[in-house]
Amino acid sequence: MKKTFGILIASAALAVASIDANAQAPADIPEEMNTLMTKYTCIACHRPNQRLVGPAYADVAKKKYSTEEIVNLIYNPIPAHWPGYPPMAPMKQVPKEDATKLAVWINSLDGGGAKKSSTKKTTKSAKTTKKSA
Ligand code: HEC
Repeated sequence: MKKTFGILIASAALAVASIDANAQAPADIPEEMNTLMTKYTCIACHRPNQRLVGPAYADVAKKKYSTEEIVNLIYNPIPAHWPGYPPMAPMKQVPKEDATKLAVWINSLDGGGAKKSSTKKTTKSAKTTKKSA
């Protein structure tokens, strides 16, 4: 009984820690995707442009899977696709609808910087460096 309680506390602490890490993460994760990634814990192992426990989603996108293939890989990962990584656990608890949303987004990260359509950010504040003598 006592032991179980300790384990419960430990996993609760872990959960809090990962939510915490996530709080300052996602400049590159749309809010809806951040919600799904947090809900299904993908965020613990994946980022769009950074290797964590699992590959960056941008690297997954380079493999040119179809949306359906990615959904299937979420349910039945094939670790042989990613030598040098630990195997991902099957995430069968993710409803197909949400898995599809994630898959579409993951695929949209393809391009490795080739087509950056977000060049319309002209709101850079021009800083005038004042040299006060
Ligand atoms: C505990 C860590 C962990 C979690 C949680 C996790 N992944 Fe992964 N994921 C990995 C690792 C490690 C790999 C590479 C090895 C593999 O595919 O088994 C991977 C691979 C993948 C791939 C590439 C599959 C392939 O064969 O190319 C996709 C897509 C993916 N994850 C999506 C997700 C999604 C979506 C979620 C949340 C629903 C998720 N992962 C949750 C660790 C994780």
